[in-house]
Amino acid sequence: MQILLISGARNPSGQTSQAADALLRGASAAGAVADKILLPTMHIERCRQCEDSGWGRCRAEGKCIIDDDLPLIKGRIREADLLVFATPVYYGELSESMRAFTDRLRRTCTHEGGAAGIKGKRAIGICVAGGGGGGAPNCCVSLERVLASTGLDVFDMVPARRQNLSFKVQLLEAYGHLLAKA
Ligand SMILES: Cc1cc2nc3c(=O)[nH]c(=O)nc-3n(C[C@H](O)[C@H](O)[C@H](O)COP(=O)(O)O)c2cc1C
Repeated sequence: MQILLISGARNPSGQTSQAADALLRGASAAGAVADKILLPTMHIERCRQCEDSGWGRCRAEGKCIIDDDLPLIKGRIREADLLVFATPVYYGELSESMRAFTDRLRRTCTHEGGAAGIKGKRAIGICVAGGGGGGAPNCCVSLERVLASTGLDVFDMVPARRQNLSFKVQLLEAYGHLLAKA
């Protein structure tokens, strides 16, 4: 099994990364091959809402006019068996890099060609509220909505907060192991 983590965290050893890495560690121990993309290090612009209707080439062709890393990441998604989307919770919501990426992924997947190899793929979300600890459930709702409207098969959403992170890390490691075995 090939697992791809797409993370909206900028800190590779921060709380969001600790949670997501635990799932990958558990899966790797059970034989999965894990790979990750940190969105803040990638070139991903926000949607330009191209025409007066708000739609552009994405709806007609499943491609975006912006020349950035979206096609590269979509290629990596197509190669994976399981996707993990992890984001720190900002204002009870997705991080800006995760928002920009998932918004554009969803648009290009409106078209059958753009969704090929992506629609129906199993995805898990992890939202980590690392400050006061509030907003992870709301962030899960947002992430679940955008992933589902992309056509992904949302298998689970896992909220975590600073106060329970050490417990969630252990749960996620066991979860990753089970997923790779299943
Ligand atoms: C703009 C902004 C808004 C944030 N909003 C929340 C929040 O609503 N709830 C919360 O618990 N933490 C909040 N945080 C803290 C983040 O969830 C996160 O834990 C912190 O930025 C460290 O991220 P990382 O260790 O996962 O990389 C916020 C941080 C930023 C920068």
